[in-house]
Amino acid sequence: MNSIKLENKNLAGVVTPEQISAYDKVATDAIYQIENATGEGSDFLGWAHLPSSITDAEIEDINNTAKNLSDNCDVVVAVGIGGSFLGAKAVNEALSDAFATSHKVVFAGQNIGEDYLSQLLNFLKDKTYGIIVISKSGTTTEPAIAFRLFRENLEKKLGKAEASKRIVAVTDASKGALRKMADTEGWKTYIIPDNVGGRFSVLTPVGLLPIAVAGFDIKALVEGARAMEMTTMKPGADNIAQTYAMTRNALYNAGKKIEILVNYNPRLHYFAEWWKQLYGESEGKDGKGIFPTAVDFSTDLHSMGQWIQEGERTIFETVLSVECSDNTVVIPSDKDNLDGLNYIAGKRVDEVNKMAELGTRIAHVDGGVPNIRITIPSINEKHLGELIYFFERACGISGYILCINPFNQPGVEAYKRNMFALLEKPGYEQQTAEIKKRI
Ligand code: PA5
Repeated sequence: MNSIKLENKNLAGVVTPEQISAYDKVATDAIYQIENATGEGSDFLGWAHLPSSITDAEIEDINNTAKNLSDNCDVVVAVGIGGSFLGAKAVNEALSDAFATSHKVVFAGQNIGEDYLSQLLNFLKDKTYGIIVISKSGTTTEPAIAFRLFRENLEKKLGKAEASKRIVAVTDASKGALRKMADTEGWKTYIIPDNVGGRFSVLTPVGLLPIAVAGFDIKALVEGARAMEMTTMKPGADNIAQTYAMTRNALYNAGKKIEILVNYNPRLHYFAEWWKQLYGESEGKDGKGIFPTAVDFSTDLHSMGQWIQEGERTIFETVLSVECSDNTVVIPSDKDNLDGLNYIAGKRVDEVNKMAELGTRIAHVDGGVPNIRITIPSINEKHLGELIYFFERACGISGYILCINPFNQPGVEAYKRNMFALLEKPGYEQQTAEIKKRI
């Protein structure tokens, strides 16, 4: 079948197949915990059967809203952070032409960069734009600031009534400031289900709406995810999510505390950012968890390559290997051959890239870096859907193997409390007094 595959035979002798198989029982239990909602955090398992439960009518409705925004706006600003940003950004970037002069969707609210916001306001000056504001809690500071700015700007441009037709809110069914505002102003809304956490929400309107506005096929994305849902629901040797979860836990217990997600295709840069949130927020707790990081190869072979080859041996690599690129570029022959490149003249650039990948894998494995390889037939909606669900399912299994609750994120609150105290937010008077003594 034409779908993503996993290979875990190049593990640099760090763990044996038997050591991986030793996780079979706990991984099987984890799969049943997810299926039967008997593990920690079982209130947040809505993602597990999301692909198979999305209806054609829901997809059509999202596509209609996207078309409406797209037809009436030069550009749409998707406002959100973390799980309310990274999935859509990852898919849109993977599917877009990197050099397109204009993108239908731009993102805001994923930082508090004054220059970024100012430049975006300037970019929107002569454009008709719409806003998709995405926040599950409806109270997150970064997107709230961005939304206030872009909404005010839009209302000044078009008047409140016209602006309202171009604002869509994706938020909780009943809670949070954004829900209250949307209901008061009569904006079109989509609901983020209670039982789907931010980092698992890309296949809800959180991700699907900005992806559809960018012109991509969300039905194919969901179908890819659905196919992966079906093949990873049950335990077994052919469950690649289980194999990935077992392998990375075996490596972690053998001292490999850092996982580097590697791509050889710049289209997947933001996919790695999405993956970092998924695994970092899910597993980094109780003093445990693999540290997820990422590199773009071959670019970063010229910066991080030395460390990976010879630095502290606490790392392993998970490589996203794209089998077929969409385009063909052949290296030309040159009669003078002053650059000495004629030995690869006539070859496709992708063939050189593949040899870079193979050569790097052999070198890194020789250097003691275990290598897990995920092959992706090509970058399209279907395979991205498979990949998204594969990583989500594996994350749930892996977290349960690690004996943590993979579905909460208590640590994310600490910086917010301090920031609110420092900004003297009403209700934080005591924390303000305490933090001021420390600075
Ligand atoms: O995973 C999480 O829950 C967080 O990273 C959130 O995605 C992020 O904080 C955005 O939250 P919200 O959608 O509530 O604005």
